[in-house]
Amino acid sequence: MHKAVILVGGPSRGTRFRPLSLNVPKPLFPVAGAPIIAHHLAAVAKIEGLKEVLIIGFFEDNVFANFINQAAIDYPNINVRYLREYQALGTAGGIYHFRDEILRGDPKSFFVIHADIACAFPLQGMLDAHSKHRGLCTLLGTKVPREQANKFGCLIARPETNEVLHYVEKPDSFISDLISCGVYLFDSAVFSEIKNALDNKKNAHEENDYLWSAPDDRLRLEQDLLRPLSEGRKLYVFETQNFWRQIKTAGSAVPANAAYLEQCAAEAPERLAKKQPNGPEIVGAVYIHPSASIDPTAKIGPNVSIGPRAVIGKGVRIKDAIVLDNVVVNSGSCVLHAVVGWDSRIGAWARVEGSPVQGHSTTVTKNGIKSQSITILGKEVSVKDEIIIRNCIVLPHKELKASFHNEILM
Ligand code: GDD
Ligand code: GTP
Repeated sequence: MHKAVILVGGPSRGTRFRPLSLNVPKPLFPVAGAPIIAHHLAAVAKIEGLKEVLIIGFFEDNVFANFINQAAIDYPNINVRYLREYQALGTAGGIYHFRDEILRGDPKSFFVIHADIACAFPLQGMLDAHSKHRGLCTLLGTKVPREQANKFGCLIARPETNEVLHYVEKPDSFISDLISCGVYLFDSAVFSEIKNALDNKKNAHEENDYLWSAPDDRLRLEQDLLRPLSEGRKLYVFETQNFWRQIKTAGSAVPANAAYLEQCAAEAPERLAKKQPNGPEIVGAVYIHPSASIDPTAKIGPNVSIGPRAVIGKGVRIKDAIVLDNVVVNSGSCVLHAVVGWDSRIGAWARVEGSPVQGHSTTVTKNGIKSQSITILGKEVSVKDEIIIRNCIVLPHKELKASFHNEILM
């Protein structure tokens, strides 16, 4: 039997995801027509013998209620539950705190997956690789551009065995372009190592004479657990060539959306929009909610998701974008490399646009000025006719009567 844990963090996190996280907890933000963690659930549900998924975080209890009700309908054979940390316990603290829940039913192994990623989730490949070595953990690795590697956990592995020789979390200088994706498969026996990690942390605290302060309960999966596991040669990497993206900034939802739509085009094309005789022109992978209304003269795609009840007018062009619920885009307007927040309204002959994302970074530097590559309109933003909004982040409820470039509009 297997289980999976999804680490969702809590409301104090996701600040980089503003302004979108002001209206929805990041794990539930829709990409490719489904909440971010619905893609995690779909992936773990494919594992034979997977019985339970535990969502661990420090959001309020009711935040995931609707998601869990829907999961019970979509995956009747999997028990999905939310376990709430009483405070942020760190990426390994919550796993240790809820160890009895994880170990109940005696699972052989369990996956731990960060919520804030989009990935092809080659979980079966990880299981197969895990069964061939004697380590306690197999982590998913991928190569990223050299100059972006230090934003992640970096690892050096022995090529013949995939044994991780060295693990450094967000190193100051370059050590490797092979990074940890935030997807792990643990043997249940790892709990004794987590206990050791916790004891070591407490001992270090006491030795440092900090007795006057209570040791904090936070335990970091990366520094406190993966590092000692690699030193003990109990950590292995499974490298994926398939897609992987981090979802940190609001703008990073757009490439994540593109990656899932392309996966969907290959694996489940029936979920995507098709050109109908009197329907709009559809280019590449596009998801349109059945309740959205698109004028037949509009041109949509590739890499576009359009949410419930959105209304898209005559001659509108949308490409590389997420258009959320109840948005209205009036005739002749253009939305490129952008997220348009819930209930926003874009006038006629307006442009809301960003620039393409380069690699894993969602900022661009033009003429020495750093700005957002993806334009984000928060909830209920109104863009008047013929206005151009380029490389901007716009906070909720703004009314834009003039054009703006490279700004954060509060
Ligand atoms: N339950 C819970 N409790 N979840 C948490 C906590 C916590 O206290 N803190 C973070 N998380 C969740 C976040 O919601 C996210 O899904 C995940 O754990 C990792 O978040 P961060 O701690 O912000 O780390 P990071 O994303 O900067 O880096 C991590 O992920 C990279 C891959 O995306 C590291 O593991 C890197 O090594 C890795 O490369
Ligand atoms: P493709 O034509 O899709 O290959 O895009 P491109 O990369 O050649 O051009 P670009 O990214 O600049 O524009 C994307 C699409 O938006 C193009 O199809 C343009 O015709 C369309 N477009 C650009 N500006 C406007 C506009 O102001 N209004 C409308 N309705 N469409 C526009």
